[in-house]
Amino acid sequence: MDRSIVEKALEIARYYPSGDNCQCFRFRHETDFLHVDYCADAAEHSLVYDTSLIILTLGGLLEYLRNAFLELGYPVKFELHLQGLDCHRNHPSIACLQLVDHTNSSGPKGFHDYFSAYPQYTSETLMARVTDRRKFLPPEQKALDAVKNERPWQFVDCHIFTELEDNALQFFSCCESHIWKSVDIIKDIADAIRFGQNNIATGLPWRNLGVSREELLPIKLVQLAPWLIPLFSFLGIQKLMQHSQQQLWQSARACTVLTYKQGLSSEQRVFASMEIMNFILGLTKAGFAMQPSTLSTECLNHSFKPEKNLQTECGLPLDNLQNQSQSIRKYMDCPTDEFAWLLRVGIPTTSFPDAARTQRQPVNDLLL
Ligand SMILES: Cc1cc2nc3c(=O)[nH]c(=O)nc-3n(C[C@H](O)[C@H](O)[C@H](O)COP(=O)(O)O)c2cc1C
Repeated sequence: MDRSIVEKALEIARYYPSGDNCQCFRFRHETDFLHVDYCADAAEHSLVYDTSLIILTLGGLLEYLRNAFLELGYPVKFELHLQGLDCHRNHPSIACLQLVDHTNSSGPKGFHDYFSAYPQYTSETLMARVTDRRKFLPPEQKALDAVKNERPWQFVDCHIFTELEDNALQFFSCCESHIWKSVDIIKDIADAIRFGQNNIATGLPWRNLGVSREELLPIKLVQLAPWLIPLFSFLGIQKLMQHSQQQLWQSARACTVLTYKQGLSSEQRVFASMEIMNFILGLTKAGFAMQPSTLSTECLNHSFKPEKNLQTECGLPLDNLQNQSQSIRKYMDCPTDEFAWLLRVGIPTTSFPDAARTQRQPVNDLLL
């Protein structure tokens, strides 16, 4: 595997999405292999608190790598080394990538056998995918179904909802705004926000937040003085955020829900996450905009992760949310499935502003 090919592929693949744009993976090139290392320090100050979110992020990265190498004319295969994965500790060579040797087709069935039937995306689509936190126009169910039907869905069930009812919209906006109940989460988010003009390559530029100016000031203040968080909560900032989130959810009234098929191994969950990213790239190519709602996903998954989830780690109160999440699950006809991710989707009204684009670290800093 030529280093110049690796550099070219990473030039594109480094645009994989990660929680709070923490970019928690590094790369090591060794003659025939490209190792992907998980870097716990990079993930520490972000919403990436647990192993399932690392797996989701890893799947996204691998789908970016698969497409980037394919575009260069080099199909790749991966080995995964997930044993002992703990999001708080570095995990070298979580995945190891190799060029496919067409002369030797023996060996275990790898991701590349699974994924040959999936659409490929060019660097143009990989670069065009962004997390869009603005209002959208309502999408047509038929158009979203067409994107859904472009792939075989081996590991994930994809559910699409348009014209969502008010209760569901309120539930989702409520889940988002609960972050103000947790000092830790707000501190992490505030730390990830970049207000200055200097091009820091991780975190989120403030123009990317999709929040009103009134909400921006408290975030700025919290960065300087975290002790203000309980005061803002007391003053009802959560209600302000819930209101602005509700406007976002009400704009398109649509989401796609991705649930894991039953009985998946950890490896298959990585494949599931690749499948999800393949779908997200399909949505991008078809002109849809999307924003993940990890907090809604977490709230809906409480029965699967009663401990060590975002709520318990950050002390979010859950009593009434539990009842609500049961009724939302029923409404969505997924009473017992484990949610992988929930995405707010719609049609963007204008093109995505350049100033809102997140940056990435240069390949030289990411590749050993
Ligand atoms: C595991 C994971 C969880 C995320 N959760 C959220 C979320 O809850 N809300 C949100 O607005 N963005 C979320 N994001 C999007 C990231 O903030 C975004 O991918 C990152 O800032 C890079 O920006 P980009 O997607 O525009 O390239 C999440 C991304 C990942 C990979």
